[in-house]
Amino acid sequence: MAFREKYSDFFQNLNEEYFNEERFVPAVGPEDAEVMMVGEAPGENEVEQGEPFVGRAGKKLNKILNDIDIDRSEIYITNLVKIRPPENRDPKKEGIKAWKPLLEREIEEVDPDMVLTLGNFASKELLGKKKGITSIHGRIFSREGRKIMPIYHPAATLYDQSKTPVLEKDLRKAFGKEETGQTSLKDLQQ
Ligand code: URA
Repeated sequence: MAFREKYSDFFQNLNEEYFNEERFVPAVGPEDAEVMMVGEAPGENEVEQGEPFVGRAGKKLNKILNDIDIDRSEIYITNLVKIRPPENRDPKKEGIKAWKPLLEREIEEVDPDMVLTLGNFASKELLGKKKGITSIHGRIFSREGRKIMPIYHPAATLYDQSKTPVLEKDLRKAFGKEETGQTSLKDLQQ
């Protein structure tokens, strides 16, 4: 079912101050996904293509997922705020407050085993912690009986390359694909 239709009661009640048809991007992915990713807010490319994480940050995320053999299409991908903020600003407190109930509904509906919060905004909002992402990324927290792991936002790895292997490691952990440190016998025979 289309996103707007599925959550029509939320959209009917959303104050129009926080909605903008031309800047809206719905979530994507299976409604019974085992893993949910929560970003911050869509950007220009996302609005153009109508899908979260399809711009530069999304391409970086795709590359890491690909490198560790994870199929993006199996992940439910959404944003804390579903409207692109003006001039790519950070989302504002009131906007976050207006959109958060929808995210809570999505979590309930999809009922994933693990929620990955990408970056400070989504992490702080779902974990209620004041600590920044640098000190809490990669740890698994329990929230109402559900696992939540904060991870770096892929956009952060574009500015600071040293965060790329950290994000990869955390994603491996979240998907149970940790490196064992073992060498395949095949490699020995080469
Ligand atoms: N950054 C986000 O937080 N979300 C997107 O959908 C794209 C970039």
